[in-house]
Amino acid sequence: MKTIDVKLGDRSHVIHIESGLLKRLPELLSKYNQGQKWVIVSQKSLIEKYVSVFHSNLIEDGFDSHIIEIPEGEHAKSFREYQKVVNQMMNLGCDRSTTILVFGGGVPGDLGGFVAATFMRGIDYFQIPTTLLSMVDSSIGGKTGINLDAGKNLVGSIYQPKGIFIDPEFLATLPSEEIVSGLGEILKYGAIYDKEFLSSISRGLDELESFPFSEAIKRSCEIKAEVVSEDENEKGRRRTLNFGHTVGHALEAHSGYGKIRHGEAIAYGMICSGWISNELGLLSDEETSFLKESIFKLPLPELGDLKTGSILHFIKRDKKHQSGVLHFIVLNGLGNAIISNKITEELIVNSLKEIQ
Ligand code: GLY
Repeated sequence: MKTIDVKLGDRSHVIHIESGLLKRLPELLSKYNQGQKWVIVSQKSLIEKYVSVFHSNLIEDGFDSHIIEIPEGEHAKSFREYQKVVNQMMNLGCDRSTTILVFGGGVPGDLGGFVAATFMRGIDYFQIPTTLLSMVDSSIGGKTGINLDAGKNLVGSIYQPKGIFIDPEFLATLPSEEIVSGLGEILKYGAIYDKEFLSSISRGLDELESFPFSEAIKRSCEIKAEVVSEDENEKGRRRTLNFGHTVGHALEAHSGYGKIRHGEAIAYGMICSGWISNELGLLSDEETSFLKESIFKLPLPELGDLKTGSILHFIKRDKKHQSGVLHFIVLNGLGNAIISNKITEELIVNSLKEIQ
């Protein structure tokens, strides 16, 4: 088993990565079992496919295990669903010693993590990510939250899990768009942090059937763990993880959430950010083309007609959420991301021609 430390003082924890890990989880969790209630937060499809058996195994091994089902889809990240989960926990007799097992992708991760952060002022939780994107990104770093009508993740907290368990075998049954979405984020780690990794991912994308997922997950987790360890609260370096996200978020909002997946939108956003970096003289023509060609190896969905005005509206909204200053991430050479506060809306709009 590969283990990666997320070093955060008394909030330090370990990312465990191993194929077939799910079967060993009751054994690995047993050292945390003091007879408290365990609540698995997950969704119907995952409960049917994996959680029911996992829950039975936990019970067999002496865990007081319970399942709470939340809806599929982004709308589960609402006050209504949050309230339903905490009320069910009260009805189950949960208390401050209860431990949550978040089982699923970004939605159970964000909602279940936020419940853990707030129930009785905070209880322990573990992440068991099942999508590629949640394995390499959202399960690491403690971001939890729910949505408001005004936008995504507007209520939440940074609250670290006690551990993260990644079983790459979950990828075998994921829809291909989910894989592509996760690959978008994996390419991002190479682009912002590790040029060699970017080249090896790019080569791997030539033969997607034999793509080295376990290796790519490990390296992505190492990078994310290092960045989060250095800047948990996103005051500096953690912001570089938002490479491609200004345009990416605008594309998601413009297309309608759920129409384009997060990592797919980010992939397009990275092409725009690469072009902007090139315009600023920070990224050579050769590097810019390499980044673009590598991203376009992904079978990305068609974007359709991009309405510049609408994209700009969402970019302005993003800026508003950053106290009026857009912290835009550019590349100062491949594998080296920096933050710029000087990127104009005109430059961003001009970059859209790269993806149309
Ligand atoms: N997804 C970016 C972060 O966790 O900071």
